[in-house]
Amino acid sequence: MTTEALAYVNGDYVPRAAACVPLTDRGLLFGDSVYEVIPAYGGRPFRVDHHLDRLDRSLAAIRLHNPLDRAAWQAMFARLTAQFPGADQSIYLQVTRGAYPVRNHVIPEAVAPAVYAFSDLMPQRRPEAAARGIAVITLDDIRWHRCDIKATTLLANVLARAQATAEGADEAILVRDGQVMEGSASNLFIVSNGLLITPPDSPELLPGITRDLVLELARDSGIAYAQAAISMAELENADEIWLTSSTREVSAVVTLDGRPVGDGTPGVLWQRMDALYQACKQRLREGGECQDD
Ligand code: PDD
Repeated sequence: MTTEALAYVNGDYVPRAAACVPLTDRGLLFGDSVYEVIPAYGGRPFRVDHHLDRLDRSLAAIRLHNPLDRAAWQAMFARLTAQFPGADQSIYLQVTRGAYPVRNHVIPEAVAPAVYAFSDLMPQRRPEAAARGIAVITLDDIRWHRCDIKATTLLANVLARAQATAEGADEAILVRDGQVMEGSASNLFIVSNGLLITPPDSPELLPGITRDLVLELARDSGIAYAQAAISMAELENADEIWLTSSTREVSAVVTLDGRPVGDGTPGVLWQRMDALYQACKQRLREGGECQDD
């Protein structure tokens, strides 16, 4: 169905199956590009300003200007999501440093960024699957030291996920110098003695939009929380472990490296947070706001 849909390619809307990237696009040759994934519930983009703010931070970090203003981004999202009226979907956008005649690591003086985007239908949430929870493994974090930039250079993340899949797990949690950072495509929370903890912002992890929302929901609901470093030992002894992302929402981890987390079922605080998160999505679908959106 989505292959019939239109994609945005540098100002044009073209059939997705026919959309092309030039051979010398620096995003393709060097991974010289950044991206965002924005859920749209009932066709309404979720926390869109947070995503566009993070896009601006990623672009600034790679010394690239944003080729579109907010109104142009919003108009594009409206056009892409209108193809699936009222449906839950995820908007993918990528800004590359553009295509130039010669392959050269040196950034050209006159830069013309390229923008690619499309929207995909989001698989329906299956409450019974969410209530079963997921299995994760831990792996050494072999990524670079600017994981706060949402860059498309994701080979280490892809290989970590492949390792998880090979071991029958859903996701890999990445560990650097004994400290737990995040998942291969998700942020991490633990619950320890009633306290919800996530690692603090740093160059070693992505400042997730879903993670921010979970912290806001915790604050507004009187759930005690902290941003603090999490050691491997604290992870192993956690009462609950959650992973968050725009596509994963809030997932409960029930096994860690083959051993049960807590009693091996999603915990009570996860059930509370999941309900708050689902209510937030529903408000957006019904035309309301989700927290500070
Ligand atoms: N990834 N950490 C990493 C490494 C991620 O790739 C992601 C999301 C997150 C969660 O961020 P957010 O809550 O803003 O989605 C954390 C997206 C979904 C992806 O690459 O498809």
